[in-house]
Amino acid sequence: MASTYPPLAKGAHVDSMDKYKSMYERSMKDPEGFWGDFAADFHWNKKWDTGDDFHKYNFDLDKGGIHVSWFNGAETNVSYNCLDRHVKAGDGDRVCFFWEGNDEGVESVTTYKQLLDQVCQIANFMKSQGVGKGDEVTIYMPMIPELPATMLACARLGVVFSVVFAGFSAESLAGRISDSSPKMVVTCSAVKRGAKHIELKKIVDEALAILDGEEQVHVPRVLVYDHKASGVAREAIHASLVEGRDVWWQDVIGDQPTECEVEWVGAEDPLFKLYTSGSTGKPKGVVHTTAGYMLGSAATFKYVFDYKPEDVYWCTADCGWITGHSYVTFGPLLMGAKQVLFEGVPTYPTAGRCWEAVDKYNVTIFYTAPTAIRTLMACGDEHVTKHKRTSLRILGTVGEPINPEAWRWYHEVVGNSKAAIVDTWWQTETGAHMITPLPGATPVKPGSATLPFFGVEPALLDDKGNEVEGVGQGYLVIKRPWPSMMRTVANDHHRFEQTYFSGYKGYFFTGDAARRDEDGYFWILGRVDDVINVSGHRIGTAEVESALVGHHVCAEAAVVPVDHPIKGQAIYAFVTLMNGFEYPPEESVRKELVAQVRKAIGPIATPDVIHWAPGLPKTRSGKIMRRVLRKIASNEEDQLGDISTLADPGVVQVLIGLRGK
Ligand code: WTA
Repeated sequence: MASTYPPLAKGAHVDSMDKYKSMYERSMKDPEGFWGDFAADFHWNKKWDTGDDFHKYNFDLDKGGIHVSWFNGAETNVSYNCLDRHVKAGDGDRVCFFWEGNDEGVESVTTYKQLLDQVCQIANFMKSQGVGKGDEVTIYMPMIPELPATMLACARLGVVFSVVFAGFSAESLAGRISDSSPKMVVTCSAVKRGAKHIELKKIVDEALAILDGEEQVHVPRVLVYDHKASGVAREAIHASLVEGRDVWWQDVIGDQPTECEVEWVGAEDPLFKLYTSGSTGKPKGVVHTTAGYMLGSAATFKYVFDYKPEDVYWCTADCGWITGHSYVTFGPLLMGAKQVLFEGVPTYPTAGRCWEAVDKYNVTIFYTAPTAIRTLMACGDEHVTKHKRTSLRILGTVGEPINPEAWRWYHEVVGNSKAAIVDTWWQTETGAHMITPLPGATPVKPGSATLPFFGVEPALLDDKGNEVEGVGQGYLVIKRPWPSMMRTVANDHHRFEQTYFSGYKGYFFTGDAARRDEDGYFWILGRVDDVINVSGHRIGTAEVESALVGHHVCAEAAVVPVDHPIKGQAIYAFVTLMNGFEYPPEESVRKELVAQVRKAIGPIATPDVIHWAPGLPKTRSGKIMRRVLRKIASNEEDQLGDISTLADPGVVQVLIGLRGK
């Protein structure tokens, strides 16, 4: 039996299970009343239609195309609700960002009014370049205040933005730009992350050079922020500026007027797209729309973190991921929160960096990933205990299943057993928290994401697609739409329908499996598709395989996940070389293949192991048996099971013989 911890947040918005249950019930029975009441705190240029028109959907492919809409007929603007609304209410001097740069002592403070002014300036510049409603902008920036500011400037104009994590390679960036045809790319000279310098502008140049041959991609304007704290001087980059294409941020933004009228947009107009990996093909652009996403990110921010105006909040995620969208840029700013914006990494310059900053800003709510928790745990308690941390009251985790040891360490050492832990399960596709405790209401069990958030109706399905009732496990699906769910895949609605709705008719399929215990709590078991969760980042096995076979020495590759003590999962690649190679080949071949993956995707996709494979275990019809490869990768060949269906069972022994070679 797992131990249960009582809910620790005192005086919370939701302070008992009874209150959670009654709010949950209302969200199910009366979505219009529930979300309409929450929406009343926001500004609407035009109110939504009521009754049957409020919310429409079809989740069943047998009944036609998949579609979802909420707040039909309404007009609003997310940027207005994040900024103007607070400034108009007299909160302009309130701090929105305490920015902590990568190096200690490099910092700045921004107020809501200052951010509004800057957002208007960026928006005015975009307008001056002919960028407007419905156009697209690609953002490739590090965690500096100008990153959320650019996102908000786009939202202000109804421009659809796509943030590409500034750790992706030029090739990945090129793929995303090519899929978007942005009118502008916003980037930065360089960034220092930990002890490393990364020249982002150079990567943008490389990406655009890759696209040079593609006719349909018109050359976007490139806006380059000169990031002095990166340690790379403007002069060092200046020569790379392309006349007529590139322009320094500092040369054009400061002179723009600090007022810019918002573009009112429809509730279902797209707000942004964010590329994420799936089991097949290229990463897909997950599209989120305006009103539903706004309310979903704000409501979860308020209830899951029990946010109150006196809180100081800090989420360590990068805006290149969905967590940075919903819980750095939108949720917190919609609620008028004061937050720490962090450019660096938790272990630089020491493993005490986070806790030092917690004390410096009196952080009350801290949100990070299990991989960061495990990394810091491995560095030793002394880095934590030498800081006070008495301000902390809520500790959140996201991105991958958290193992109970890491959960307890987070709770007992970081939180002094006083802070409530919220293990939040959700996805790029869901836009906001889906299964999560509420810190003043839900008793928690280490490793369980517990119960559904308001409006979310999860279910578990068996192999035949029947619902598993009560205690049991199965594929995790969602039975009805929630406001912040994705609406489509950019340029490919068919792929949206096939990926999420074709497996189980009438349900949204999450790609995860889960178990439900005797208290109805959900325990996420991880992905059941070909997605590897490395340090909380989604990497498609197909993407890594296609990167590997992109190298001329590689004939075939099969990539599987393997458990890793810090990263959760690591990438394990079986590689068959072209005819003529001996096994094992020279060490330089391995290095080249690893470099190839880093070039095609980025350092986050670096395989931990390349296992030479003169042959791969295949069925007679030529299908690779990944189950067998997983067992070999995990040193569990005693549990291979039935391999009699293999075309050549002998390959298994050959592979085992090449382990570690
Ligand atoms: C995994 C991140 C267990 C899961 C917000 C999901 C989790 C994928 C949790 C989505 C959690 C996320 N416990 N697993 N609390 N949170 N996951 O799109 O496999 O980057 O499907 O969104 O991360 O990853 P994504």
